[in-house]
Amino acid sequence: MSVKAVVLGAGKGTRMKSDKAKVLHEAAERPLIGWMLHLLQAIDTEATVIVVGHQAETVAAALPDGVGTALQEPQLGTGHATQVGLAELSTDPGDTVVVLRGDMPLIRPESLAALVATHRIEQAAATILTIQDGPRDFGRIVRKDGAVVGIVEQRDCTPEQLEIGEVNTSVYVFEAEALRSALTKLKPENDQGELYLTDVIGILVERSAWVATSSATAEEATGVNSHDQLAMASCVLRRRINTELMRSGVAMQDPDRTYIDADAVVEPGARLRADVHIEGASQVAAGADVGPSVYLSNTTIGPDSRVWYSVLRDADVGRNAEVGPFVSLRPGATLQEGAKAGTFVEIKNSIVGEGSKVPHLAYVGDTTIGQNSNVGAGTIVANYDGYKKHRTIIGNGVRIGSNNVLVAPVALSDESWTGAGSVITKDVEPGSLAVTRSPQKEVPGYAARRRARAEQEQ
Ligand code: UD1
Ligand code: CA
Repeated sequence: MSVKAVVLGAGKGTRMKSDKAKVLHEAAERPLIGWMLHLLQAIDTEATVIVVGHQAETVAAALPDGVGTALQEPQLGTGHATQVGLAELSTDPGDTVVVLRGDMPLIRPESLAALVATHRIEQAAATILTIQDGPRDFGRIVRKDGAVVGIVEQRDCTPEQLEIGEVNTSVYVFEAEALRSALTKLKPENDQGELYLTDVIGILVERSAWVATSSATAEEATGVNSHDQLAMASCVLRRRINTELMRSGVAMQDPDRTYIDADAVVEPGARLRADVHIEGASQVAAGADVGPSVYLSNTTIGPDSRVWYSVLRDADVGRNAEVGPFVSLRPGATLQEGAKAGTFVEIKNSIVGEGSKVPHLAYVGDTTIGQNSNVGAGTIVANYDGYKKHRTIIGNGVRIGSNNVLVAPVALSDESWTGAGSVITKDVEPGSLAVTRSPQKEVPGYAARRRARAEQEQ
């Protein structure tokens, strides 16, 4: 006995006015289909098939392993889409199949879990997720003596049926065998001439099968058909993520201006200020203070660190480190405990060791910096010779003067110093000072002579 799922997503999504398949549009930084798969995790599905209408390959490429696609062409209605999906799904007697739409990311995992639980408890052939007083354009749940007897689409309703408040979300659980056999009986006898999945309910009831319901809130019924609905859904999803985090102990200056991916981890005790974006598999540890205006992608921020006005991608910031303002940490940038990257600094594929600092106006690329070293203001690591990248090694306790160019490959040993304005092309021995500036020359009385010449020329 296992649970399998069919997600209906072949509809054109005309109102998105986009070439991209609707299920690939993102709400709160995750594609709609990603939200539906996340939702399905709540019920531990064994196999899932997404029914797509175009771009089947693009959609397939965006899906995790084990999730299949079925191409529905032409699109003859939700019943037909379910047939196409089921054809790609092998089921055993006793299996259940969840069917849902690919464009309803606000369905809550709890509601889906409750739906499946009700289905089991009531030993139903089908269980429908419904909404009391839901949207007026949704299909009505028709009951007789309290028992569900069918679903009627709004456009096919009698005036009395239009008065029914309980509507169909399009999320269902079916006994696999019952669904398969009922699907073969569908006829396109409706206003749109389509095969309606909703008609399966009436067919099952005619066979004296039991149809149960479980209810969801009106908010969950919001589908995504246009960019404004996508933005609205994003707001709700983000709010949910933020509310959950705040309840767990994360402090947020302004949850309406805090954008956190569902996959990101923010530990209780972290503090997020306004306009923080946390994307991908990022982690923010307890005691970290992030923002305002920080973009993190696949980046780890260690405990008690401070990051503000900065962009960090595939970077790793250790405990008690400081980043910002105006820092770009690019892939492979690691700041170890107590390290600092300061104002207008870019760091790529480099390690800044414990207690080391790159405080002002610097570029550090392909470099390993030891402990307690200081990179002077305006220093550039010239890591690229026009053909290849080379590494630079900076030891422990190194003092690099202001406005240096370190021409890679080069190594500055422990406790070495460089003079301001130097271009370092050769390795520096431990404890030495390397200076490459030309000596300062002084011309006494120059100003007076210069003035005299100018007066003569007038
Ligand atoms: C459907 C339900 C309706 C329910 C409403 C709520 C039917 C007949 N009606 O109406 O009872 O209240 O959803 O969400 O099922 N799709 C395909 N292939 C098709 C047609 C549709 O994959 O051939 C997909 C669409 O991408 C969409 C979903 O199925 O995700 C629903 O399609 P649509 O025909 O628009 O149904 P609604 O009119 O919204
Ligand atoms: Ca339709």
